[in-house]
Amino acid sequence: MDALSFKEVYKRFGATYALHGVTFTIPRKVVAGLLGPNGAGKTTSIKLAVGLLKRNKGEVEVLGFDPWREEVKARMKIGVLHEKPVYPPDVKVSTLLLHLAKLRGSDWREVKRVVGITGLKEYLNIKVKALSRGYLQRLGLAQALLGDPELLLLDEPTANLDPIARMEILELIKNLQKELNVTVIISSHILPELQRVCNYAVFIGAGRILDYGSMGDLASRYGVGAILKIYTVNPRLLASSLVQEEYVEAVEIHDSFLKVRTRPGHWRYVEKKALELGAERVELSTAKLEEMYKAVVKYAA
Ligand SMILES: Nc1ncnc2c1ncn2[C@@H]1O[C@H](COP(=O)(O)OP(=O)(O)OP(=O)(O)O)[C@@H](O)[C@H]1O
Ligand SMILES: [Mg+2]
Repeated sequence: MDALSFKEVYKRFGATYALHGVTFTIPRKVVAGLLGPNGAGKTTSIKLAVGLLKRNKGEVEVLGFDPWREEVKARMKIGVLHEKPVYPPDVKVSTLLLHLAKLRGSDWREVKRVVGITGLKEYLNIKVKALSRGYLQRLGLAQALLGDPELLLLDEPTANLDPIARMEILELIKNLQKELNVTVIISSHILPELQRVCNYAVFIGAGRILDYGSMGDLASRYGVGAILKIYTVNPRLLASSLVQEEYVEAVEIHDSFLKVRTRPGHWRYVEKKALELGAERVELSTAKLEEMYKAVVKYAA
């Protein structure tokens, strides 16, 4: 079962189509980027996925449920951070979170858990209006985590934040996936900052899907360079063999792993070679999202 799947989905507002036969899947346990420019249909897709909007045509499935027809069941398993969340300004963080926790059938213990994760412990007695933008976003993440959802949908979680706050929020999101083992879907139009966080991407433009897949598959398909993290007991030894490979562009030696930049389109080959040479494990660390996006757009045109 996938975390989210759209099949030939159409969504119309009046005479204009926001989504034009959108098809994609996002598997579970990934951090997926829903990536595209302003007006591409990211927010519309997220609203359809959580049952806030009704599609005109097509199928949507979230964790095996139809979010429109089985909204209550689906909602129990998903947490959402909306694009422009509005919270009552004069309420304390603790009061707001406790109220929201109760709506999800949980209690104070759950509030303590989510403020622990999001670094809001010292802010429980502060009124919402006194929070900085960065901390408001943490509050948004905290409310999304209430009830321990299996899937988090975050609509532009770094919008309007300064560079440091953006990085903090993205690190937090990355750790969430690892520690809570949830699936995370993040929408954004800022590609470079997401490449450190996402291992899956859905590219959307003007209401149509350009392509989607794991970063590794997309990197291969569009021939963009990738950086591999190769774990091995003897990084120096492996490095000395790998530098001789023609598809290896650069090797950086660390204590228990190597970082290897591969020639565009050949990371699979380097992965195979490294494993043959005794590497324990190979991870795709980053693929250049911006480069990939350009290639996807060019290909789709
Ligand atoms: N309630 C609405 N009524 C009319 N048109 C709408 C409505 N919501 C969205 N649209 C239109 O649908 C298209 C997709 O909008 P959507 O908000 O999903 O894009 P987005 O990718 O989230 O963009 P952004 O990056 O600006 O948030 C746009 O052309 C938008 O104007
Ligand atoms: Mg949007």
